[in-house]
Amino acid sequence: MSIEISPAWWTSAVVYQIYPRSFADSTGTGIGDLGGIRGKLDYLQQLGVDVVWLSPIYRSPQADNGYDISDYQDIDPLFGSLEEFDLLLAEAHARGIKIVMDLVVNHTSDEHAWFEESRSSLASPKRDWYIWRDGDGVDGHEPNPWRSMFGGPAWQLDAVTGQYYLHLFAAKQPDLNWENPEVRVAVYTMMNWWLDRGVDGFRMDVINLIAKVQSDLVGDSPGYVMGDQVHDYLQEMNREVFAGRDADLITVGETPGATVDDAIQFTSSDRLELDMVFQFEHVGLDHGPRTKFDNVPLKLVDLKRSLGRWQSGLADAGWNSLYFSNHDQPRSVSRFSDDGEFRYESATMLAAILHLHRGTPYVYQGDEIGMTNAGLTTIEQYQDIESLNYYAEEVAAGASPAAVLASLAFRSRDNARTPMQWDATPLAGFTTGTPWLEITPNHSTINVATDRAAGPRSIFEFYRRLIALRHESTVVSLGVFEMLEAEHPTLYAFTRTLGEETLLVVGNFSGVPSELPLAVAGELVIGNLVIGNYGEVPDIAGALLPWEVRVVRLR
Ligand code: GLC
Repeated sequence: MSIEISPAWWTSAVVYQIYPRSFADSTGTGIGDLGGIRGKLDYLQQLGVDVVWLSPIYRSPQADNGYDISDYQDIDPLFGSLEEFDLLLAEAHARGIKIVMDLVVNHTSDEHAWFEESRSSLASPKRDWYIWRDGDGVDGHEPNPWRSMFGGPAWQLDAVTGQYYLHLFAAKQPDLNWENPEVRVAVYTMMNWWLDRGVDGFRMDVINLIAKVQSDLVGDSPGYVMGDQVHDYLQEMNREVFAGRDADLITVGETPGATVDDAIQFTSSDRLELDMVFQFEHVGLDHGPRTKFDNVPLKLVDLKRSLGRWQSGLADAGWNSLYFSNHDQPRSVSRFSDDGEFRYESATMLAAILHLHRGTPYVYQGDEIGMTNAGLTTIEQYQDIESLNYYAEEVAAGASPAAVLASLAFRSRDNARTPMQWDATPLAGFTTGTPWLEITPNHSTINVATDRAAGPRSIFEFYRRLIALRHESTVVSLGVFEMLEAEHPTLYAFTRTLGEETLLVVGNFSGVPSELPLAVAGELVIGNLVIGNYGEVPDIAGALLPWEVRVVRLR
């Protein structure tokens, strides 16, 4: 006898990511805040999203824009207070919008009380809460050759005790020692405190890095950090935090380097770890061999091969999260398509392709109006620690500043972090003060007000329809995914099938018309258009126009 298990609510949900410092500023500081977010809840409700994920708003020295937390149980005064947070939560819930917090527990800030206590002496009761090692003993150098993700060694010598601590990110982000059960208990206690307050889940920052392979921590191993214990820790977290709470929560782990097999382990429902993970394979396809700043052209066949493998890999167990952009990635319309003449077509085509895969789609703030890369040209304009470190290291090693700036202009995380473009006024409706990061000049034409007045050419409206489609249609949320024309260089085509229903999705990843292969063309019947970005196209079965997408119902 088979038991019918109803699908989890998040299979038909869409998540919207807010990067708070760049979303909306209600106090004139030039930095977005909780009041600003509250003021835009109606906007989010109109878009139709189910969940808002807030990048970190906890107390923080802001060395990595809040991903360096000095107090997990307080709001940074830059953003507001706990009282304002409660208000935001209540007003979001009143509109049927859930709030998910960013959980950054691979590391804390070096200004967290735990670390201050840990570094104070070898005998500190919290010494073992972080990862301390002696130098390699040969010449007083770092314990092993690990590199920080933000450049330089991953070890920092601390003068107080003469030992090194591990920091996989900036020196101001010391890694917690998850081997220590007290650390884990402290983290679970904090998570329970937020859930008791009413939050609806967590996006877990670099969660697969919490488990270090202990044998790699010394010696010459280039090292990687996804020790097997990561699954034990997540199962323990599940028992200690999520078990017994209602099924309305959502958990998504950020897991750089995770393979399809890893993701199955993280997200199979019977393993009680996470609901879904952010994998990185498809956003690494245009990275050069040396660093992510060596930009190589993306081949569409590679993108299809990668995403197709994740679709089939998680078809029977586990679940995908779907994203083309976030606060760490360039703007998708600039990266994958044409952010100039065909910006409307490009942004909507990318959205339809992404949202009609099987998985939970994530909309990054500004994507719903087709915001572009920032177009920064001098190093003084950048704020991101990763970009600044990369520039300094490369130039010190002899690279030409112009070449490094060209790489940053394409790849820097600041491309996604420029203030949200609400209207065409000089400060884009974002602030009345001096914005912490320059507002992109194209806000005079690319902004929420202009987009929403664009009638049939509103990108927001297209997103709204896609989100509604996922809510209404089980073939979108649950249908079986099948890639078509995998080797075609410019068409991205697939079907979704559930029971008697099949949708065909075809997108043109190019600025010239693409002839349709016969097998696909024959199916594109005008009467069955579900959504497209050229309106009613006369020659529906001929060619796809530049950056066109068509979704048709076959059965
Ligand atoms: C994650 C975050 C990124 C941050 C890093 C360190 O990758 O998304 O913004 O810099 O972790 O916390």
